[in-house]
Amino acid sequence: MKNILVTGGAGYIGSHICVELLNQGYGAIVMDNLCNSSKKALARVEEITGKRVKFYEADIREKSAFDEIFTSNDIYGVIHMAGLKAVGESVKEPLAYFDNNIGGTIVLLEAMKKRRVKRMIFSSSATVYDLGGEECLKETSPLGNSTSPYGRTKSVIEQMLTDIYASDNVWSIVMLRYFNPIGAHKSGLIGENPKGIPNNLMPYITQVAVGKRERVNVFGGDYNTPDGTCVRDYIHVMDLADGHIKAIRKFEETGLFVYNLGTGCPQSVLEVIHAFERANDLQIQYAIAPRRAGDAAKYYANADKAGEELGWKATRSIEDMCRDSWNWQSKNPDGY
Ligand code: NAD
Ligand code: UD1
Repeated sequence: MKNILVTGGAGYIGSHICVELLNQGYGAIVMDNLCNSSKKALARVEEITGKRVKFYEADIREKSAFDEIFTSNDIYGVIHMAGLKAVGESVKEPLAYFDNNIGGTIVLLEAMKKRRVKRMIFSSSATVYDLGGEECLKETSPLGNSTSPYGRTKSVIEQMLTDIYASDNVWSIVMLRYFNPIGAHKSGLIGENPKGIPNNLMPYITQVAVGKRERVNVFGGDYNTPDGTCVRDYIHVMDLADGHIKAIRKFEETGLFVYNLGTGCPQSVLEVIHAFERANDLQIQYAIAPRRAGDAAKYYANADKAGEELGWKATRSIEDMCRDSWNWQSKNPDGY
């Protein structure tokens, strides 16, 4: 059996990836310091799959933790998801983001190099693009000056991985640029569980639906878009997980690969709110609020390259995403 080490595997996206890894016959070894997640997510992954996740509660900045993991397990490759991801917090605490995301990745890469495990999938983001330019983003679209320290960590790590591959082309490195992951596993047992007030749109909507918040503040109604609200490319987290499984096949080749993971279907904030209402037969209170600093009006993925080279395509609709997000939130109003 091929074992995949998933850093950050107890988190929102990582837990869904673990389900797919186990369902597809891979071994899932999770390393997570639980700074933004719960061990319960992994127990739920085991409940869904009927299979075991091997868990190490450890920080990716701890060199000794990797010594133990790589000595005790035969690791085929790494899916590197561990990192801090709150854009606003990164503006206030940039050093914490550079230390955790960039510093942690360096420690991980050193450990991988030492153990000759030279296969990695990295969780990158659409935030690496110049988001004020082209709306439909291809992997070859201009990369931008990120608008936040969080975004900058993703750009720097992509550059580091590019340099590592240039220095030693035995590596197989896949950088996946996620657009806006939402939704949850259809069981409703795992899902997104933000601490405090959600920063992102879908968890905010589900918290309004469950009665925890009064209304959704729609950040800006005067953008140059059809209904004046910002447009993004929302992708179901299970489609995203499937993209990672397909990307593992690239580990059979050496190379540096980059793919967008998105649906290619742009949706405005109001369209998402209305899709949520339709999918769940609920009413969501909302009000137009001032713009949020740093938001681009509109961008979405061209995901043709992942289709051509990985045989991957998102299959779930915005209604599926809204239904599954609500299924998770309504069954777990207080998270894990
Ligand atoms: P998440 O916070 O739920 O998951 C990240 C996990 O990493 C958490 O379980 C956290 O405890 C762990 N972690 C953080 N720092 C760590 C450290 N130093 N050592 C060990 N574990 C650590 O976030 P997510 O939404 O699941 O995102 C996963 C990855 O995908 C992140 O790298 C994120 O930047 C990236 N990403 C997410 C989105 C999104 O919209 N959710 C979009 C683009 C990229
Ligand atoms: C944000 C980050 C991005 C990161 C991604 C995943 C910013 C500027 N970008 O993307 O770098 O990779 O999250 O963590 O923060 N919205 C509302 N009301 C809300 C919340 C959001 O109207 O309460 C709107 C936003 O203005 C945006 C859209 O909904 O237009 C989506 O927002 P969000 O879910 O935060 O994702 P992004 O901003 O696209």
